[in-house]
Amino acid sequence: MKRIFNLSLCVLSAALLMTACGKQESKTAETSEPKVYLVGAEATFAPFEYQNEQKEIVGFDVDVMNAVADKGGFKIKFVNTPFEGIFNFLAQGDRDLLASAITITDERKQTVDFSEPYFEAAQLIVVPKDSKVTQFADLKNMKVGVQSATTGDEIVQKELGKSNPNIKRLESATLVMKELEGGGVEAVVSDNGVIKNYIKNNPSEGFRFISDPAFPKEYYGIAVKKGNADLLAKVNKGLAAIKADGTYDKIYAKYFADTSK
Ligand code: ARG
Repeated sequence: MKRIFNLSLCVLSAALLMTACGKQESKTAETSEPKVYLVGAEATFAPFEYQNEQKEIVGFDVDVMNAVADKGGFKIKFVNTPFEGIFNFLAQGDRDLLASAITITDERKQTVDFSEPYFEAAQLIVVPKDSKVTQFADLKNMKVGVQSATTGDEIVQKELGKSNPNIKRLESATLVMKELEGGGVEAVVSDNGVIKNYIKNNPSEGFRFISDPAFPKEYYGIAVKKGNADLLAKVNKGLAAIKADGTYDKIYAKYFADTSK
């Protein structure tokens, strides 16, 4: 008798447990957390995206994206993502957005959709102070460092020749600058904001920068998977809102107080 009682108790509790589980499941579905969109960024590109001492991704793009998400009514999380092949992460659904100081180009527009531009940039050349370089054409027979797959990479390949062994293409902007510090390359071509920030923070390296009229204006955009009109609309809505209410200007001043817009 006792045994039977125990057994039925067991069956009863199992049944209860199952109902509890079932209930919980439907509860999570009802009150489910809003989707968190993953934002890809290659975080060696200070002050736009870089890792702080706690290894968190911080920077101008992070502040902009957080403000945009806030106004656009969605949640985000930054994920460090290699720059070479970065657009594939959208296509494969591994990232929902890319905010990585990405220049809007016609070629890239074939594979992803871009937000309205949110930052104006251009390439710069950085060389040791005693370098003879005065213009882009002077780099013709020099060893030049670039971050792979960037617009700097493209423009240098165009000027020096596609498979010119003098071009050192490296996967991160940090490695590119290390190469210049070590003398492995004689010049680096990269985005102006990054070069100026580097020179400011590393005065003892003794580098200077050169701009050249051959470098066109570039505009950064936030990328979404081609055809993701819904998310793109939210991003553009957020961008417009932060531009209108002064949030964008505040973020800009935080990072670029000493440079004019
Ligand atoms: N603006 C350049 C480009 O779109 C460089 C971007 C590199 N970004 C980065 N986070 N490493 O190609």
